[in-house]
Amino acid sequence: MNKWQLAPLLPLLLLTFFPLLSPSLSTDTITIGSPLSYPDTLVSSNNTFALGFFNTGNSSRWYLGIWYTITPHTVVWVANRKNPMPDPNGSLYINSDSPNLQLKTNSSDVLWHASSSSLVNPIAQLSEEGNFVLKDKNANNIAWQSFDNPTDTLLPGMPLGWISGQDLKYLTSWTDSDNPAPSNYTLKLDQTAWPEIIIWNGSKPIFRTGQLDGNKFSGSPKFNDYTEWTFEYVSNQTGEYIYYMPTSSSKLRLVLNHSTLQMYRFDDAETEQEWDTDWLVPDPNDPCDKYARCGQFGLCNLTSTNKCTCLKGFEATHVEDWDVNETTQGCTRQAELNCTSDGFLSISNVKLPDTTNTTVDRTIKQKECRKRCLKNCSCYAYSNMNEGRGCTMWMGDFTDIRKLDHGGFTLNYRVARSELHGTNAKKKTAVIATSVILGLLFLASVAYLVHKKFKQKAELLAYSERHSQASQESSQTMSMIRSEILEEGSRKGNAFNLPIVDVDVVLAATGNFALENKLGEGGFGTVFRGRLEGGERIAVKRLSYSSTQGLSEFKNEVILIAELQHINLVQLLGCCIAGEERMLIYEYMENKSLDTIIFDKSKSPQLDWPKRFEIIMGIARGILYLHQDSRLRIIHRDLKASNVLLDENMNPKISDFGIARIFGRHDNDSVTNRVVGTYGYMSPEYAMYGVFSIKSDVFSFGVLVLEIISGKKCSEIFAVEPKLNLLSYQAWTLWNDRNVLNLLDSSISKNSNDESEIIRCIQVGLLCAQDRPQDRPHMSEAILMLNSLNMILPLPKQPGYISDRFMDNMESSTSYMSHDTSITTLVPR
Ligand SMILES: *[C@@H]1O[C@H](CO)[C@@H](O)[C@H](O)[C@H]1NC(C)=O
Ligand SMILES: *[C@@H]1O[C@H](CO)[C@@H](O)[C@H](O)[C@H]1NC(C)=O
Ligand SMILES: *[C@@H]1O[C@H](CO)[C@@H](O)[C@H](O)[C@H]1NC(C)=O
Ligand SMILES: *[C@@H]1O[C@H](CO)[C@@H](O)[C@H](O)[C@H]1NC(C)=O
Ligand SMILES: *[C@@H]1O[C@H](CO)[C@@H](O)[C@H](O)[C@H]1NC(C)=O
Ligand SMILES: *[C@@H]1O[C@H](CO)[C@@H](O)[C@H](O)[C@H]1NC(C)=O
Ligand SMILES: *[C@@H]1O[C@H](CO)[C@@H](O)[C@H](O)[C@H]1NC(C)=O
Ligand SMILES: *[C@@H]1O[C@H](CO)[C@@H](O)[C@H](O)[C@H]1NC(C)=O
Ligand SMILES: *[C@@H]1O[C@H](CO)[C@@H](O)[C@H](O)[C@H]1NC(C)=O
Ligand SMILES: *[C@@H]1O[C@H](CO)[C@@H](O)[C@H](O)[C@H]1NC(C)=O
Ligand SMILES: *[C@@H]1O[C@H](CO)[C@@H](O)[C@H](O)[C@H]1NC(C)=O
Ligand SMILES: *[C@@H]1O[C@H](CO)[C@@H](O)[C@H](O)[C@H]1NC(C)=O
Repeated sequence: MNKWQLAPLLPLLLLTFFPLLSPSLSTDTITIGSPLSYPDTLVSSNNTFALGFFNTGNSSRWYLGIWYTITPHTVVWVANRKNPMPDPNGSLYINSDSPNLQLKTNSSDVLWHASSSSLVNPIAQLSEEGNFVLKDKNANNIAWQSFDNPTDTLLPGMPLGWISGQDLKYLTSWTDSDNPAPSNYTLKLDQTAWPEIIIWNGSKPIFRTGQLDGNKFSGSPKFNDYTEWTFEYVSNQTGEYIYYMPTSSSKLRLVLNHSTLQMYRFDDAETEQEWDTDWLVPDPNDPCDKYARCGQFGLCNLTSTNKCTCLKGFEATHVEDWDVNETTQGCTRQAELNCTSDGFLSISNVKLPDTTNTTVDRTIKQKECRKRCLKNCSCYAYSNMNEGRGCTMWMGDFTDIRKLDHGGFTLNYRVARSELHGTNAKKKTAVIATSVILGLLFLASVAYLVHKKFKQKAELLAYSERHSQASQESSQTMSMIRSEILEEGSRKGNAFNLPIVDVDVVLAATGNFALENKLGEGGFGTVFRGRLEGGERIAVKRLSYSSTQGLSEFKNEVILIAELQHINLVQLLGCCIAGEERMLIYEYMENKSLDTIIFDKSKSPQLDWPKRFEIIMGIARGILYLHQDSRLRIIHRDLKASNVLLDENMNPKISDFGIARIFGRHDNDSVTNRVVGTYGYMSPEYAMYGVFSIKSDVFSFGVLVLEIISGKKCSEIFAVEPKLNLLSYQAWTLWNDRNVLNLLDSSISKNSNDESEIIRCIQVGLLCAQDRPQDRPHMSEAILMLNSLNMILPLPKQPGYISDRFMDNMESSTSYMSHDTSITTLVPR
């Protein structure tokens, strides 16, 4: 039986190739004088990818390509897509001059070539990531690489978008499953107004992900909810592009197959051993994925029976068509616009329309945006996207709007004045009336409670003279904020359910903040344990920073924190406002904080190595979420063992993240005058110059990893010799002496199976604690490094520590410093 007769028995026949059952050269490199010819292949160092010649089906078209070596072989890149070889008898040559790479047939026709550099000693190497790289053997400059020339597959780490000085990188699907020639279907990162991914059929869009919001596509839950990858948008001098990395050791590939984008993951289970499609867009089962399904001014709403509705103020263009589900004609206005007297209606949580006809002004704010749109008669809609990203205005008709369960943006669209009145106006008055009544009721009850509690425990509520004469105005602000939080909560549906807890409930639960219920003094307040009437245990944090923060900032922050939901973050259950007192109510953590276990010789044996590894991974995932997976970029700034809480199963949960610095999407670093953090965990650039970025958290994470492994406090060792963060220094010294296992906590039982994992963790810890922020990995990279046993990690450089000079300066103000209490305020020079 020959190989072709076997083929039909195998799954995924059409994209499966068996070009090389012959012995292959076990090398990953070609050099001058040793071209690659069929049936030889290049094989990456650990046998993940191969490069060689293949044909499709039983055609006589032969191609040079890269494929996954796991069977069924799956091609991820093709060199001569448009010019197949008539037979396998071709060779890939490498030259010092242009073109550096040449694919020639037996009769010396050049079918494909790449790169026009002048290289002294050129080599081309296939990497473990599936990247075919041409470079000078002795220099590290890359002259050409297959990652910069994608075909239909985006592999982990491969950029999609612009790299400065190069052509736009996008995916083009195969013409059909037998023919890799480029089809008319492409997938591009679009930057017309805001970055989003669009699948095109020639020049017609087929699918839009919606604008990027942080690291999420606002209109495409599939991208955002996928846990097997971390997704990154890069916008800096290198270029503007996206890329992804797997979060575990899974093999992933993102393929434009015909007109659908498919996410494949290799199922490694013994019985499976095949590529699963984890998701695809546009999803045939999701009618709203289809571009402009509901036409102009139409709204695709999955929960409505017909899927399509018209925006309020519009009606179906051809009612008879809608009855047969033919809705692409869209909607028309019920009342014509009268330029001067029009107004706006708004709809929230939507994927914003196609941005082809937009103008964008990144500098102006909501009010100005509205004014400007109103002034221009052809401005049909505007949106102020989150985080003050300016104003987007749609000029003329717009299409492809989708209602989302959560997330998305608010679209304000122009309608005639007459549409603004009627039911709408009535509702508004009703809302106002209700909130006024509610507000008054609330005011009265607060006044009563406050009065009662004030008498009970005056000191408790920190009710100053000043406040008891609190003006009507500030009380009103309070009730307004209360209703705003409630409103926000109901708008976000189930995903967002943040109760305002009455102050007397909190007082009852904590026994009037009895001293015996005090759990600890955190960076930003005191934490008390409590038990609600129903028996549920809670932790209440009385914030001590209220004096510097206004009520509305508090409101914003609470809403933001409440939106942060991750298994490795402590969940906020509610909040409480009473006078100037602000309280946050969190879930109660059975096992207190990590420091109470790892630094306590009697308890530390509770945590064996596998558990510690899980804790490290959990913390890493929590930080990654704060840094890039949540809607906002959040820098924690005070990561340390006492801010990592453990639930009853010893799962780690990061706390105190709410008071951390919330960063805009484009901010990279920032400078502060007030350095807040804990000595030993603080990165040098932050402690010395007040510069912080996500890399400051990475530093703290590195120190934390070393603490978890060694069971030693970074500050404890610091006390011995006040120059270095000795823990990381000690780790580094042991590292250089190749003796790093000596760092391991003696209470962890030695198990030689764990050794390589422990060493890897120490290496990652050291990489994270390096001196220069740019040397430290991103959290996504750190997770990847921790996870993938096969990856070769970079060698760590000397860890960062704070210089003598700085220490001398600090000596004079020691009162600011403390090594044990959790908060340290340093004054940078
Ligand atoms: C393969 O070859 C057989 C016989 O030559 C032919 O009938 C069949 O259509 C071919 N299959 C493909 C996919 O080209
Ligand atoms: C390819 O070359 C080999 C010798 O190198 C030859 O035997 C074979 O016939 C050639 N194949 C084709 C299809 O030309
Ligand atoms: C080219 O093909 C001929 C016959 O088809 C074969 O004899 C010769 O070896 C081939 N040359 C190379 C370089 O493969
Ligand atoms: C691609 O588009 C061009 C022009 O738009 C058309 O001529 C061609 O037939 C299309 N190709 C395919 C494979 O549909
Ligand atoms: C792409 O466009 C062509 C015509 O240009 C059309 O025949 C084809 O159905 C379109 N494909 C999809 C998936 O919409
Ligand atoms: C841009 O960001 C990427 C990814 O974070 C990084 O690799 C690259 O070095 C950055 N480029 C510059 C010029 O900062
Ligand atoms: C590509 O899409 C087609 C049609 O949807 C499907 O039959 C085929 O299995 C897909 N290819 C792969 C490799 O999944
Ligand atoms: C979507 O449809 C549901 C069910 O019909 C309806 O309750 C909801 O108001 C609709 N949303 C919008 C924005 O039209
Ligand atoms: C329209 O489509 C919906 C779902 O896509 C279906 O339930 C409904 O029966 C269709 N209506 C008609 C008239 O075909
Ligand atoms: C628009 O409305 C205003 C006020 O209602 C009216 O004075 C004006 O004449 C209208 N303009 C047009 C063009 O209808
Ligand atoms: C852009 O505006 C033109 C003219 O009003 C309209 O024909 C076209 O459909 C609009 N494009 C989109 C994507 O809405
Ligand atoms: C190569 O891969 C195998 C199996 O996937 C793994 O056991 C081995 O440790 C890897 N080697 C290296 C050097 O990454």
